[in-house]
Amino acid sequence: MRVGIDSLSLYTPGYYLDLALLAERRNTPLLKYVKGIGQERMAVPAPDEDVVTMGANAALQTLEGIDRTQIDTLIFATESGVDQSKAAGIYVHRLLGLPSRCRTFEVKQACCSSTAALQMALASVALKPSRKALIVASDVARYGFGSAGEPTQGAGAIAMVVSAHPRLVEIHPACGSYTEDVMDFWRPNYMNEAVVDGKYSIKMYLKALMESWHAYCEEGGMALGEFSRFCYHLPFTRMAEKAHRHLVRNTGTNLSAEQQAAQIDDTLIYNRLIGNCYTASLYVGLLSLLEGGERDLGNQHVGMFSYGSGCMGSFFGGTVQPGYRALLHARRHRDMLQAREALTFERYEAFYNHVAQRDGSDYQNPRNHTGAYRFAGVSDHKRLYETLNAPADQPVEAPADGDFVKV
Ligand code: CAA
Repeated sequence: MRVGIDSLSLYTPGYYLDLALLAERRNTPLLKYVKGIGQERMAVPAPDEDVVTMGANAALQTLEGIDRTQIDTLIFATESGVDQSKAAGIYVHRLLGLPSRCRTFEVKQACCSSTAALQMALASVALKPSRKALIVASDVARYGFGSAGEPTQGAGAIAMVVSAHPRLVEIHPACGSYTEDVMDFWRPNYMNEAVVDGKYSIKMYLKALMESWHAYCEEGGMALGEFSRFCYHLPFTRMAEKAHRHLVRNTGTNLSAEQQAAQIDDTLIYNRLIGNCYTASLYVGLLSLLEGGERDLGNQHVGMFSYGSGCMGSFFGGTVQPGYRALLHARRHRDMLQAREALTFERYEAFYNHVAQRDGSDYQNPRNHTGAYRFAGVSDHKRLYETLNAPADQPVEAPADGDFVKV
Protein backbone atom coordinates (compact mmCIF):
# COMPACT_ATOMS: atom_id res chain seq x y z
CA MET A 1 0.00 0.00 0.00
CA ARG A 2 1.47 3.38 -1.02
CA VAL A 3 0.84 6.04 1.63
CA GLY A 4 2.09 9.58 1.95
CA ILE A 5 1.41 13.28 1.56
CA ASP A 6 -1.54 14.04 -0.70
CA SER A 7 -1.61 17.81 -0.29
CA LEU A 8 0.56 20.36 1.49
CA SER A 9 0.32 24.07 2.07
CA LEU A 10 1.82 26.89 4.06
CA TYR A 11 0.70 29.93 5.99
CA THR A 12 2.96 32.58 7.45
CA PRO A 13 2.01 35.89 9.10
CA GLY A 14 1.48 39.06 7.09
CA TYR A 15 4.38 40.86 8.81
CA TYR A 16 8.14 40.44 8.76
CA LEU A 17 11.24 42.08 10.12
CA ASP A 18 14.07 42.62 7.65
CA LEU A 19 17.21 41.32 9.33
CA ALA A 20 19.07 44.38 8.02
CA LEU A 21 17.05 46.40 10.58
CA LEU A 22 17.87 43.90 13.32
CA ALA A 23 21.57 43.93 12.41
CA GLU A 24 21.62 47.72 12.66
CA ARG A 25 19.92 47.72 16.09
CA ARG A 26 22.04 44.90 17.45
CA ASN A 27 25.23 46.44 16.11
CA THR A 28 25.98 43.22 14.23
CA PRO A 29 27.44 42.90 10.69
CA LEU A 30 24.55 42.03 8.36
CA LEU A 31 26.76 39.40 6.73
CA LYS A 32 26.61 37.39 9.94
CA TYR A 33 22.85 37.01 9.54
CA VAL A 34 22.75 36.66 5.76
CA LYS A 35 25.81 34.41 5.27
CA GLY A 36 26.75 33.12 8.74
CA ILE A 37 23.19 32.11 9.72
CA GLY A 38 21.66 32.27 6.24
CA GLN A 39 18.54 34.33 7.00
CA GLU A 40 17.18 37.50 5.35
CA ARG A 41 13.80 38.10 6.97
CA MET A 42 11.81 36.71 9.84
CA ALA A 43 8.05 36.39 10.04
CA VAL A 44 6.51 38.11 13.07
CA PRO A 45 3.01 37.13 14.21
CA ALA A 46 0.55 39.92 14.98
CA PRO A 47 -0.98 39.93 18.49
CA ASP A 48 -4.26 38.56 17.13
CA GLU A 49 -2.58 35.53 15.59
CA ASP A 50 -1.54 32.29 17.26
CA VAL A 51 -0.85 28.68 16.37
CA VAL A 52 -4.58 28.02 15.98
CA THR A 53 -5.24 30.80 13.45
CA MET A 54 -2.02 30.08 11.54
CA GLY A 55 -2.79 26.36 11.45
CA ALA A 56 -6.39 26.92 10.35
CA ASN A 57 -5.20 29.26 7.60
CA ALA A 58 -2.76 26.64 6.30
CA ALA A 59 -5.35 23.87 6.51
CA LEU A 60 -8.02 25.87 4.67
CA GLN A 61 -5.85 25.75 1.57
CA THR A 62 -4.70 22.16 2.01
CA LEU A 63 -8.28 20.93 2.14
CA GLU A 64 -9.30 22.58 -1.12
CA GLY A 65 -10.78 19.94 -3.42
CA ILE A 66 -10.64 17.27 -0.68
CA ASP A 67 -13.80 15.68 0.67
CA ARG A 68 -13.69 16.74 4.35
CA THR A 69 -15.95 13.87 5.39
CA GLN A 70 -13.03 11.49 4.67
CA ILE A 71 -10.85 13.12 7.34
CA ASP A 72 -11.08 10.92 10.43
CA THR A 73 -7.96 12.16 12.23
CA LEU A 74 -6.57 15.63 12.92
CA ILE A 75 -3.18 15.75 14.61
CA PHE A 76 -1.91 19.14 15.74
CA ALA A 77 1.84 19.41 16.32
CA THR A 78 3.22 22.42 18.17
CA GLU A 79 5.62 23.58 20.84
CA SER A 80 3.78 26.90 21.21
CA GLY A 81 0.68 25.33 22.75
CA VAL A 82 -2.16 27.61 23.92
CA ASP A 83 -3.62 25.35 26.61
CA GLN A 84 -2.26 22.69 28.94
CA SER A 85 -5.27 20.43 28.38
CA LYS A 86 -7.34 21.22 25.30
CA ALA A 87 -5.71 20.43 21.94
CA ALA A 88 -5.29 23.44 19.65
CA GLY A 89 -6.58 21.16 16.91
CA ILE A 90 -10.08 21.20 18.44
CA TYR A 91 -10.39 24.90 17.63
CA VAL A 92 -9.08 24.22 14.12
CA HIS A 93 -11.55 21.37 13.75
CA ARG A 94 -14.44 23.79 14.41
CA LEU A 95 -13.04 26.65 12.33
CA LEU A 96 -12.72 24.29 9.34
CA GLY A 97 -16.07 22.57 9.86
CA LEU A 98 -14.56 19.07 9.97
CA PRO A 99 -16.80 16.07 10.65
CA SER A 100 -17.55 15.36 14.30
CA ARG A 101 -16.65 11.68 13.71
CA CYS A 102 -12.97 12.56 13.89
CA ARG A 103 -10.29 12.07 16.54
CA THR A 104 -8.36 15.24 17.26
CA PHE A 105 -5.29 15.51 19.46
CA GLU A 106 -2.06 17.42 19.99
CA VAL A 107 1.48 16.01 20.02
CA LYS A 108 4.71 17.40 21.44
CA GLN A 109 8.44 16.76 21.17
CA ALA A 110 9.92 20.09 20.11
CA CYS A 111 10.27 20.49 16.32
CA CYS A 112 10.08 16.73 15.73
CA SER A 113 6.47 16.12 16.77
CA SER A 114 5.16 16.90 13.28
CA THR A 115 7.19 13.96 11.98
CA ALA A 116 5.89 11.71 14.76
CA ALA A 117 2.40 12.87 13.70
CA LEU A 118 3.16 12.03 10.08
CA GLN A 119 4.40 8.54 11.01
CA MET A 120 1.25 7.94 13.12
CA ALA A 121 -0.97 9.15 10.30
CA LEU A 122 0.77 6.91 7.75
CA ALA A 123 0.18 3.85 9.94
CA SER A 124 -3.44 4.83 10.48
CA VAL A 125 -4.11 5.33 6.77
CA ALA A 126 -2.34 2.08 5.91
CA LEU A 127 -4.80 0.29 8.23
CA LYS A 128 -7.85 2.07 6.80
CA PRO A 129 -6.98 3.26 3.26
CA SER A 130 -10.38 4.86 2.62
CA ARG A 131 -9.71 7.45 5.34
CA LYS A 132 -7.49 10.53 5.37
CA ALA A 133 -5.61 12.32 8.14
CA LEU A 134 -4.97 16.03 8.45
CA ILE A 135 -1.74 17.13 10.11
CA VAL A 136 -1.30 20.72 11.19
CA ALA A 137 2.12 21.87 12.41
CA SER A 138 2.14 25.44 13.67
CA ASP A 139 4.62 27.41 15.74
CA VAL A 140 6.03 30.75 16.80
CA ALA A 141 9.80 30.57 17.23
CA ARG A 142 10.54 33.05 19.97
CA TYR A 143 13.82 33.77 21.78
CA GLY A 144 14.91 36.42 24.26
CA PHE A 145 14.74 39.99 22.96
CA GLY A 146 18.31 40.94 22.03
CA SER A 147 19.59 37.37 22.56
CA ALA A 148 21.80 35.38 20.14
CA GLY A 149 18.71 33.40 19.13
CA GLU A 150 16.74 36.51 18.09
CA PRO A 151 17.73 36.44 14.37
CA THR A 152 16.57 32.82 14.18
CA GLN A 153 12.97 33.60 15.14
CA GLY A 154 10.05 33.14 12.76
CA ALA A 155 6.47 31.90 12.61
CA GLY A 156 4.26 29.82 10.37
CA ALA A 157 2.24 26.69 9.85
CA ILE A 158 1.98 23.88 7.39
CA ALA A 159 -0.97 21.59 6.87
CA MET A 160 -0.87 18.29 5.04
CA VAL A 161 -3.38 15.63 4.15
CA VAL A 162 -2.04 12.09 4.49
CA SER A 163 -3.70 9.42 2.37
CA ALA A 164 -3.33 6.19 0.47
CA HIS A 165 -2.19 6.66 -3.16
CA PRO A 166 -0.79 10.12 -2.34
CA ARG A 167 -0.51 12.63 -5.16
CA LEU A 168 2.51 14.61 -3.84
CA VAL A 169 5.05 12.48 -1.97
CA GLU A 170 4.93 8.79 -1.14
CA ILE A 171 6.63 8.24 2.25
CA HIS A 172 8.70 5.05 2.55
CA PRO A 173 8.21 2.68 5.51
CA ALA A 174 11.82 2.87 6.79
CA CYS A 175 12.34 5.51 9.47
CA GLY A 176 15.35 5.64 11.78
CA SER A 177 14.95 7.49 15.06
CA TYR A 178 17.13 8.53 17.99
CA THR A 179 16.30 9.85 21.48
CA GLU A 180 18.59 11.23 24.18
CA ASP A 181 17.75 13.30 27.27
CA VAL A 182 19.71 16.56 26.81
CA MET A 183 19.10 20.23 27.64
CA ASP A 184 19.99 22.03 24.42
CA PHE A 185 16.72 23.96 24.00
CA TRP A 186 13.52 23.96 26.04
CA ARG A 187 10.73 26.26 27.22
CA PRO A 188 9.57 25.96 30.83
CA ASN A 189 5.83 26.47 31.41
CA TYR A 190 6.40 29.83 33.09
CA MET A 191 8.31 31.32 30.12
CA ASN A 192 7.23 32.81 26.79
CA GLU A 193 10.68 32.38 25.24
CA ALA A 194 12.82 29.33 24.68
CA VAL A 195 15.94 28.76 26.75
CA VAL A 196 18.72 27.63 24.44
CA ASP A 197 22.35 26.61 24.51
CA GLY A 198 22.89 27.49 20.85
CA LYS A 199 26.24 25.86 20.09
CA TYR A 200 25.32 22.71 22.03
CA SER A 201 21.99 22.52 20.15
CA ILE A 202 23.87 22.46 16.84
CA LYS A 203 26.16 19.72 18.17
CA MET A 204 23.15 17.65 19.29
CA TYR A 205 21.38 18.21 15.96
CA LEU A 206 24.41 16.76 14.14
CA LYS A 207 24.73 13.86 16.57
CA ALA A 208 21.03 13.00 16.24
CA LEU A 209 21.37 13.20 12.44
CA MET A 210 24.10 10.54 12.33
CA GLU A 211 22.40 8.33 14.92
CA SER A 212 19.09 8.53 13.04
CA TRP A 213 20.87 7.82 9.75
CA HIS A 214 22.50 4.68 11.20
CA ALA A 215 19.12 3.54 12.59
CA TYR A 216 17.57 4.22 9.16
CA CYS A 217 20.23 2.07 7.47
CA GLU A 218 19.57 -0.74 9.95
CA GLU A 219 15.87 -0.53 9.03
CA GLY A 220 16.82 -1.31 5.42
CA GLY A 221 16.53 2.25 4.11
CA MET A 222 17.92 3.51 0.80
CA ALA A 223 21.59 4.21 0.16
CA LEU A 224 22.58 7.88 0.40
CA GLY A 225 23.36 8.02 -3.32
CA GLU A 226 19.78 7.07 -4.22
CA PHE A 227 18.41 10.38 -2.92
CA SER A 228 18.53 13.28 -5.33
CA ARG A 229 17.51 15.91 -2.73
CA PHE A 230 17.63 16.26 1.05
CA CYS A 231 15.30 18.23 3.33
CA TYR A 232 16.49 19.06 6.83
CA HIS A 233 14.80 20.57 9.84
CA LEU A 234 15.57 24.28 9.35
CA PRO A 235 16.16 26.37 12.49
CA PHE A 236 18.06 28.60 10.01
CA THR A 237 19.27 27.77 6.50
CA ARG A 238 22.99 27.46 7.33
CA MET A 239 22.04 24.53 9.59
CA ALA A 240 21.01 22.49 6.54
CA GLU A 241 24.37 23.18 4.89
CA LYS A 242 26.21 22.11 8.03
CA ALA A 243 24.03 19.01 8.38
CA HIS A 244 24.36 17.91 4.77
CA ARG A 245 28.12 18.37 4.79
CA HIS A 246 28.28 16.35 8.03
CA LEU A 247 26.17 13.50 6.62
CA VAL A 248 28.08 13.39 3.33
CA ARG A 249 31.48 13.44 5.06
CA ASN A 250 30.57 10.87 7.72
CA THR A 251 29.17 8.40 5.21
CA GLY A 252 32.30 8.66 3.05
CA THR A 253 30.27 9.96 0.10
CA ASN A 254 32.20 11.66 -2.65
CA LEU A 255 30.32 14.87 -3.55
CA SER A 256 31.75 18.28 -4.39
CA ALA A 257 30.56 21.38 -2.51
CA GLU A 258 28.53 22.36 -5.60
CA GLN A 259 26.87 18.94 -5.81
CA GLN A 260 26.00 19.11 -2.10
CA ALA A 261 24.52 22.59 -2.52
CA ALA A 262 22.43 21.46 -5.49
CA GLN A 263 20.88 18.75 -3.28
CA ILE A 264 19.54 21.22 -0.70
CA ASP A 265 19.40 24.74 -2.18
CA ASP A 266 15.75 24.73 -3.30
CA THR A 267 14.64 23.58 0.16
CA LEU A 268 15.96 26.79 1.71
CA ILE A 269 14.10 29.47 -0.29
CA TYR A 270 11.04 29.88 1.96
CA ASN A 271 12.87 29.48 5.27
CA ARG A 272 15.32 32.28 4.42
CA LEU A 273 12.32 34.63 4.19
CA ILE A 274 10.22 33.22 7.06
CA GLY A 275 12.66 31.96 9.67
CA ASN A 276 12.22 29.03 12.01
CA CYS A 277 8.70 27.60 12.39
CA TYR A 278 9.79 24.75 14.69
CA THR A 279 7.40 21.82 13.92
CA ALA A 280 6.58 23.19 10.47
CA SER A 281 10.17 23.90 9.37
CA LEU A 282 11.09 20.58 7.76
CA TYR A 283 7.88 20.62 5.73
CA VAL A 284 8.31 24.28 4.78
CA GLY A 285 11.60 23.03 3.33
CA LEU A 286 9.87 20.20 1.49
CA LEU A 287 7.31 22.62 0.06
CA SER A 288 10.05 25.04 -0.93
CA LEU A 289 11.74 22.19 -2.80
CA LEU A 290 8.57 21.17 -4.63
CA GLU A 291 7.50 24.74 -5.46
CA GLY A 292 10.84 26.48 -5.83
CA GLY A 293 12.84 24.36 -8.23
CA GLU A 294 12.58 24.46 -12.00
CA ARG A 295 13.37 20.79 -12.52
CA ASP A 296 10.54 18.27 -12.46
CA LEU A 297 11.22 16.00 -9.47
CA GLY A 298 8.66 13.35 -10.37
CA ASN A 299 9.90 9.84 -9.33
CA GLN A 300 12.93 11.34 -7.54
CA HIS A 301 13.73 10.23 -3.98
CA VAL A 302 14.10 12.79 -1.18
CA GLY A 303 15.85 12.13 2.15
CA MET A 304 14.37 13.94 5.17
CA PHE A 305 15.74 14.63 8.63
CA SER A 306 13.58 15.92 11.46
CA TYR A 307 15.19 17.21 14.67
CA GLY A 308 13.50 18.16 17.93
CA SER A 309 15.66 19.51 20.73
CA GLY A 310 15.63 17.74 24.01
CA CYS A 311 16.18 15.59 21.89
CA MET A 312 14.80 13.31 19.20
CA GLY A 313 15.70 12.88 15.53
CA SER A 314 14.18 10.87 12.67
CA PHE A 315 15.54 10.15 9.20
CA PHE A 316 13.19 8.88 6.51
CA GLY A 317 12.64 9.10 2.77
CA GLY A 318 9.97 9.70 0.19
CA THR A 319 9.36 9.65 -3.55
CA VAL A 320 7.94 12.67 -5.32
CA GLN A 321 4.92 11.62 -7.37
CA PRO A 322 4.71 12.29 -11.12
CA GLY A 323 2.31 15.16 -11.84
CA TYR A 324 2.79 16.69 -8.36
CA ARG A 325 3.23 20.19 -9.77
CA ALA A 326 -0.43 20.54 -10.74
CA LEU A 327 -1.41 20.19 -7.06
CA LEU A 328 0.82 22.89 -5.61
CA HIS A 329 -0.23 26.39 -4.53
CA ALA A 330 3.12 27.91 -5.54
CA ARG A 331 1.71 31.14 -6.94
CA ARG A 332 -0.41 31.79 -3.85
CA HIS A 333 2.50 31.09 -1.51
CA ARG A 334 4.75 33.46 -3.44
CA ASP A 335 2.01 36.14 -3.43
CA MET A 336 1.53 35.67 0.32
CA LEU A 337 5.25 36.22 0.93
CA GLN A 338 5.37 39.24 -1.36
CA ALA A 339 2.27 40.87 0.16
CA ARG A 340 3.72 40.88 3.69
CA GLU A 341 4.19 44.19 5.43
CA ALA A 342 7.68 45.13 6.55
CA LEU A 343 7.72 46.13 10.23
CA THR A 344 9.66 49.03 11.63
CA PHE A 345 11.88 47.98 14.50
CA GLU A 346 9.55 49.77 16.94
CA ARG A 347 6.51 47.85 15.67
CA TYR A 348 8.42 44.56 15.87
CA GLU A 349 9.22 45.41 19.47
CA ALA A 350 5.56 46.24 20.18
CA PHE A 351 4.40 42.95 18.61
CA TYR A 352 7.08 41.06 20.53
CA ASN A 353 6.03 42.62 23.82
CA HIS A 354 2.34 42.00 23.30
CA VAL A 355 2.35 38.72 25.16
CA ALA A 356 -1.05 37.56 26.27
CA GLN A 357 -1.94 38.40 29.83
CA ARG A 358 -1.29 35.48 32.12
CA ASP A 359 -3.34 36.69 35.08
CA GLY A 360 -6.60 35.26 33.74
CA SER A 361 -8.33 38.60 33.13
CA ASP A 362 -10.34 39.22 29.94
CA TYR A 363 -8.75 41.06 27.01
CA GLN A 364 -9.36 41.88 23.35
CA ASN A 365 -6.60 41.86 20.76
CA PRO A 366 -6.10 44.76 18.33
CA ARG A 367 -7.02 43.98 14.73
CA ASN A 368 -4.23 43.25 12.20
CA HIS A 369 -3.80 41.24 8.99
CA THR A 370 -4.32 37.61 9.93
CA GLY A 371 -5.62 35.71 6.92
CA ALA A 372 -9.05 34.08 7.23
CA TYR A 373 -9.01 33.66 11.01
CA ARG A 374 -8.04 35.76 13.99
CA PHE A 375 -7.55 35.33 17.72
CA ALA A 376 -9.91 37.98 19.06
CA GLY A 377 -9.07 37.74 22.75
CA VAL A 378 -9.97 35.95 25.95
CA SER A 379 -13.22 36.11 27.86
CA ASP A 380 -13.96 34.15 31.01
CA HIS A 381 -10.74 32.12 30.45
CA LYS A 382 -11.96 31.09 26.96
CA ARG A 383 -10.00 31.88 23.80
CA LEU A 384 -12.19 33.55 21.17
CA TYR A 385 -11.54 32.95 17.49
CA GLU A 386 -13.15 34.79 14.58
CA THR A 387 -13.63 33.75 10.98
CA LEU A 388 -13.15 36.64 8.58
CA ASN A 389 -14.94 36.63 5.21
CA ALA A 390 -16.19 33.08 5.61
CA PRO A 391 -17.00 31.67 2.16
CA ALA A 392 -20.75 31.37 1.55
CA ASP A 393 -20.50 27.56 1.34
CA GLN A 394 -18.86 27.39 4.75
CA PRO A 395 -21.33 28.77 7.29
CA VAL A 396 -19.86 29.90 10.57
CA GLU A 397 -21.50 28.30 13.56
CA ALA A 398 -21.26 29.24 17.19
CA PRO A 399 -19.67 26.63 19.43
CA ALA A 400 -21.82 25.02 22.09
CA ASP A 401 -21.06 27.68 24.72
CA GLY A 402 -22.14 30.48 22.34
CA ASP A 403 -19.06 32.70 22.80
CA PHE A 404 -18.19 32.85 19.11
CA VAL A 405 -17.99 36.22 17.39
CA LYS A 406 -18.67 36.41 13.65
CA VAL A 407 -17.15 39.38 11.84
N1 CAA B 1 30.28 37.56 8.19
C1 CAA B 1 30.00 36.28 7.85
N2 CAA B 1 29.81 35.28 8.76
C2 CAA B 1 29.89 35.61 10.06
C3 CAA B 1 30.18 36.92 10.49
C4 CAA B 1 30.38 37.91 9.50
N3 CAA B 1 30.65 39.17 9.81
N4 CAA B 1 30.20 36.93 11.83
C5 CAA B 1 29.94 35.66 12.24
N5 CAA B 1 29.75 34.87 11.17
C6 CAA B 1 29.44 33.45 11.15
C7 CAA B 1 30.19 32.65 12.21
O1 CAA B 1 31.50 32.32 11.77
C8 CAA B 1 29.29 31.44 12.35
O2 CAA B 1 29.51 30.58 11.28
P1 CAA B 1 29.88 29.02 11.57
O3 CAA B 1 28.66 28.43 12.19
O4 CAA B 1 30.18 28.47 10.21
O5 CAA B 1 31.04 29.03 12.51
C9 CAA B 1 27.87 32.01 12.14
O6 CAA B 1 28.06 33.30 11.52
C10 CAA B 1 27.13 32.24 13.45
O7 CAA B 1 27.95 32.99 14.29
P2 CAA B 1 28.05 32.65 15.84
O8 CAA B 1 28.28 31.19 16.02
O9 CAA B 1 28.99 33.60 16.47
O10 CAA B 1 26.56 33.03 16.23
P3 CAA B 1 25.86 33.19 17.60
O11 CAA B 1 26.72 32.86 18.75
O12 CAA B 1 25.31 34.55 17.56
O13 CAA B 1 24.70 32.07 17.57
C11 CAA B 1 23.07 30.51 16.90
C12 CAA B 1 24.17 31.47 16.42
C13 CAA B 1 23.70 29.47 17.82
C14 CAA B 1 22.48 29.81 15.69
C15 CAA B 1 21.98 31.33 17.65
O14 CAA B 1 21.34 32.16 16.74
C16 CAA B 1 20.97 30.46 18.37
O15 CAA B 1 21.16 30.06 19.51
N6 CAA B 1 19.81 30.14 17.69
C17 CAA B 1 18.74 29.34 18.31
C18 CAA B 1 19.13 27.88 18.48
C19 CAA B 1 19.16 27.11 17.18
O16 CAA B 1 18.62 27.51 16.18
N7 CAA B 1 19.84 25.94 17.22
C20 CAA B 1 19.90 25.08 16.04
C21 CAA B 1 19.97 23.61 16.41
S1 CAA B 1 18.63 23.18 17.52
C22 CAA B 1 17.26 22.96 16.48
O17 CAA B 1 17.41 22.85 15.30
C23 CAA B 1 15.89 22.99 17.09
C24 CAA B 1 15.29 24.32 16.87
O18 CAA B 1 14.54 24.54 15.93
C25 CAA B 1 15.64 25.40 17.81
